[in-house]
Amino acid sequence: MNKQDLLAAFAAKFNGATGSVYASPGRINLIGEHTDYNGGFVFPGAVKQGIMAVIRPNDTDTVRAYSIDLNDYAEWQVSDPKGPDATCFRFVYGVARELMERGVEVRGFDTVFAGDVPLGAGMSSSAALESCFAYGLNDLFHGTISKWDMVLAGQATEHKYIGCNCGIMDQFASVFGKAGKLMRLDCRSREFEYFPFDPKGYKLVLVNSCVKHELAGSPYNDRRRSCESVAAAVQKLHADRRIDTLRDCSWEDLEELKAKKADLNITDEDLKRATFVLGEKDRVLAVCDALNRGDYEEVGRQMYLTHEGLSRDYEVSCEELDFLNDIAKECGVTGSRIMGGGFGGCTINLVKDELYNAFTTRAVEAFRDKYNVTPIIIDVVIGDGSRKID
Ligand code: GLA
Repeated sequence: MNKQDLLAAFAAKFNGATGSVYASPGRINLIGEHTDYNGGFVFPGAVKQGIMAVIRPNDTDTVRAYSIDLNDYAEWQVSDPKGPDATCFRFVYGVARELMERGVEVRGFDTVFAGDVPLGAGMSSSAALESCFAYGLNDLFHGTISKWDMVLAGQATEHKYIGCNCGIMDQFASVFGKAGKLMRLDCRSREFEYFPFDPKGYKLVLVNSCVKHELAGSPYNDRRRSCESVAAAVQKLHADRRIDTLRDCSWEDLEELKAKKADLNITDEDLKRATFVLGEKDRVLAVCDALNRGDYEEVGRQMYLTHEGLSRDYEVSCEELDFLNDIAKECGVTGSRIMGGGFGGCTINLVKDELYNAFTTRAVEAFRDKYNVTPIIIDVVIGDGSRKID
C-alpha cells in the first residue's frame, strides 16, 4: 500500500481527517541466529517491505486504531491497564505504554496502518509494527527518547504484552536500518557497524515456505531458558568470573559442564542448544572475515552450517524448511539456511546470478509438488529504517 492510499483510508475512517505518515521495515539476517539473547553477534539489515501508519493525535485519551490488512478496528484508553485483545493492536498498545514509561507523554490518537511484510515469515513484521509506532508516537508527542529507547520499547512490548521473550535484533534492524547496508551488532555491548553489502555476482533471495511461524509461547522461550540455565550453571562452577550469557562461556566450559550436568540440573537438550549458540558465535565472526575478503563461497558455507545447527541441535526447523535447504544444495546454491526464529517462515539463500532462475523455478515447483503450496520468492533489497514519510 502506498502513502496516498493509506491517507485515503485514514480520511475515510476518520471523517476526512489527515495525519502524519511513518514507516518501518522488516528485516533479513545474514547470519547469527538465536545469538541476540545470548549476548552474541547478529548480522541483519532492513528490507524494503514494512509497515506504514498514518497517525494523528486526537486531543482525547482514547486510541482509535484500524488495521487495513486484518480489516479490524479497536478503541482503548491510553491508561487502560489491560488493553485490547487482538494481537495487532496489542503491539500498538504495548509500545504506547512503553513510551510512556520512558517519559513520552502519549495521549489519544487515531491511526490506520498496513504493511507488506508477510506475516509469520520470519521477516519481523511485528518489530516493523512496533518500531513504526515507537518512532511515530515519539515524534508526534514531542518525546526525546533515543533510537535505542525505541528499540527497547519494542522489545519490552514483546516481553510484556505478547509473551515472546525475544532478543533485540529485530527491533534494532527495523529502527537503525540503512539502504544498501547490513549491520553487525554486538548484542552485549550494543556497538554496531554498518557493512556495505553488494555481493557482485550473487543475489540474496528468500523462499517463504508459507508455514506460519509463531514465536509467542513456549518453543522459543524454552530455548532461551535452556541457554540461560547453561550460563547460570557455568557461573556456579566459576564464581571468579562474570557469566551473564552464553557469550561469556567457552567450549571448555561446555565440556566441563557435560561432566557435571547431573549435579547442576542441566539436560542433554540444554547442552545441545548451547552447543549451537557457541558455534553460531564463531560462524558470525567467520562470516565477517569472509566478507572483508569478498569470499562469498565461505559466507555460503557458514550459512549451510547454521542451517544444520538450527535443524539438528537447536531444533527450530521443520520438514518444509529442511526440504528447501536440500533443494538449494542440489541446485548448487552458495549458501542457504532458515532465517529468523525458525519453526516456519523463510529460508535465506545466497545464489550466484547465473543460478537464480534455475534455483527459484526448481524450489517453487518441487515444493508445490510435494506440499501442494506455492512458496513465495522474495528478492532482498536492503532498505532504510524507521522514518517519517514527508
Ligand atoms: C526472532 C527474535 C529475535 C531473534 C531471532 C532468532 O526473530 O525476535 O530476537 O532471537 O528470532 O535469531
